[in-house]
Amino acid sequence: MRVNKNIYNKQGILVIPALRALTDIDIALLSGHGIFLSDQDVEPITILDLVDSAIKEVRQVFDIAKNSDHIPFATVRDKIIPIILFMSNHPNLNQILVHLENYDEYVYRHSIGVALLSKLIGKALDFSDEQLLELMTAGFLHDIGKSKVPSAILNKPGKLTKEEYEIVKKHTLYGYDIIKSSVGIPERHAYVALQHHEREDGSGYPFGLKGHEVDGYSKIVAVADVFHAMVSKRVYKLPVPFYQVLKEMSDNAYGRLEPSITLSFLKKIMDVMIGNTVVLSNGCVGKIVRVGAHDPVQPIVEVNGSYIDLSNEHEIHLERFI
Ligand SMILES: [Fe+2]
Repeated sequence: MRVNKNIYNKQGILVIPALRALTDIDIALLSGHGIFLSDQDVEPITILDLVDSAIKEVRQVFDIAKNSDHIPFATVRDKIIPIILFMSNHPNLNQILVHLENYDEYVYRHSIGVALLSKLIGKALDFSDEQLLELMTAGFLHDIGKSKVPSAILNKPGKLTKEEYEIVKKHTLYGYDIIKSSVGIPERHAYVALQHHEREDGSGYPFGLKGHEVDGYSKIVAVADVFHAMVSKRVYKLPVPFYQVLKEMSDNAYGRLEPSITLSFLKKIMDVMIGNTVVLSNGCVGKIVRVGAHDPVQPIVEVNGSYIDLSNEHEIHLERFI
């Protein structure tokens, strides 16, 4: 719940500002002032309000990283990651992901999106709760080095020059340095920031490492990163349609992501889409009812009471989601 107006104590001092989400600490503070809220003082917080409040926290973390070269890890661990964890278990995860695809404040949305998607993959790979938290945190911090890249380059509406692209690529090195010099963050997270643009075939950056040289968490975050970047709106590009991204990842068109992690991701993200309405390439509108493990981007779709198994229908595929 959040308060729907400013809450003052008897001396007229502001205790809780309007629209602030109430934490246990706030409630204790209010009670210390002898203030007890009624139903008229509060309103429910929607999940998208919560996402927006997380984006604000993320902006502060990036600002601190930019200005002081370190990460306030307690804020990340105690405030941001619990919200992302809550989002990841929310029944409207699909709505949250769509909200995170907007171009406004992209780097912050992307950090949350990659943390969420990395957790989905970790879950599909049967990670323990402890590993899932680690992976989400590493995913969240993967692009922290972008705090050191000028926003004129990050948000440039056109194609980057070669020199500008070289500067963008340095975010991996900056991220590694920032995480390494921050107190309390496991070293593995620094490697994820450093390696998430490395590719299985050695075609990535900054070092052109081959698959066997790259940390497993980095490979997971790479899959989440590619997907979220492709489906997102940016100032310089329209989003690639959801299905097209899945298909290209499935066909290994990006060719450079770890195949079993990619397949686990595709299954999991399609599971999230069960119940969603889709338009098929033959123009029919239906609902996704089942997703197979071997060909998750060709699910079973219910159209007017009959079931079409797209894995057997080579002429028809998903066109777009509604
Ligand atoms: Fe990156």
